[in-house]
Amino acid sequence: MAFKSFLMIFSLIFIVSLALIPRTAYSIPFVVFHGFSECCSIGGVKRFTTLLSNWSGSQGYCIEIGNGVWDSWTMPFLKQTAIACDKVKKMSELREGYNIIGLSQGNMVGRGILEFCEGGPPVRNFISLAGPHAGIASVPFCGSALVCILVDLLLQLAVYSNYVQEHLAPASYIKIPSDIDEYNKGCKFLPKLNNEIRRNSTYKERFASLQCLVLIMFEQDRILVPKETAWFGYFPDGSWTPVLPAQETTLYTEDRIGLKTMDEAGKVKFVKVPGRHLEISYSDMKEYILPYLVENATAKLSISSESSHVCPWSEQKGERLQLYTAN
Ligand SMILES: *[C@@H]1O[C@H](CO)[C@@H](O)[C@H](O)[C@H]1NC(C)=O
Ligand SMILES: *[C@@H]1O[C@H](CO)[C@@H](O)[C@H](O)[C@H]1NC(C)=O
Ligand SMILES: *[C@@H]1O[C@H](CO)[C@@H](O)[C@H](O)[C@H]1NC(C)=O
Repeated sequence: MAFKSFLMIFSLIFIVSLALIPRTAYSIPFVVFHGFSECCSIGGVKRFTTLLSNWSGSQGYCIEIGNGVWDSWTMPFLKQTAIACDKVKKMSELREGYNIIGLSQGNMVGRGILEFCEGGPPVRNFISLAGPHAGIASVPFCGSALVCILVDLLLQLAVYSNYVQEHLAPASYIKIPSDIDEYNKGCKFLPKLNNEIRRNSTYKERFASLQCLVLIMFEQDRILVPKETAWFGYFPDGSWTPVLPAQETTLYTEDRIGLKTMDEAGKVKFVKVPGRHLEISYSDMKEYILPYLVENATAKLSISSESSHVCPWSEQKGERLQLYTAN
């Protein structure tokens, strides 16, 4: 009798450990790319990375490109992407695959790596917060310092000139709806990233190879114009109205980068959260980001049922993170 109950308890313990071990053993790391005027080592971005690491039990890295704040404004994205590509290739931790989290224009780096990085480690999930995926139609707010006034002026006067394309980062993804010819001719990054002029099926294959794509839009976003660009929605060519939903853009209908394929396969999640640009609550982070960092669909389900064992949920109710300071 005693032996029998011993056996039962033993097998119970065995089963429970089996259920618990894979969660940490299988989680793959994630990489964060921050937005303009921010950097990895301070403030919201640092906290964001640490929190998600803590909650998910997976290692998180914020990859800095160049010197942070200044280069985030001045380095064109083909160059930022090339640097980031080198960095991820050198990180042996990522070799088995990793997830990308893009914050605002950091999404351009993330997608740049995904599509252009030859021989880079495989990307599993892509979680995008306020990404200017289909372009933006106005100059992002830099600040009121003299240098910012100059930046604004240059972007407004000659966004598609070689000089501005090579010296100001946002010029890589500004798409003025009434200036599409100039954009197609002059813009060196976004038309390539979105397969708008010359199509390259390799970029499409790589983009569509994602397991999940999560596109988070902020309801009160006034930095991205239009805010729907975070969902690949945009103005029609040649007109400032209306904002087309992603599904009505040519990028989608012609399936230029595989968004339609992925959407039809149920791999794209369109999420809208309250808040200004990159202002996200802890509960939304847990609901819309965390599940994709925890390996994999099976683990995803267990998160909601076992959440209280994994995370200190209750202490953090109502807290919010500000990942962009100039809102
Ligand atoms: C993450 O977890 C570590 C160890 O449990 C703790 O010391 C640290 O304060 C946590 N960080 C955050 C931002 O919660
Ligand atoms: C498409 O991109 C791949 C990878 O960068 C490159 O090897 C190939 O030459 C490109 N194809 C075309 C038609 O440009
Ligand atoms: C993910 O879960 C599936 C079962 O749903 C399993 O076959 C697969 O091995 C898991 N992948 C990893 C990397 O753990």
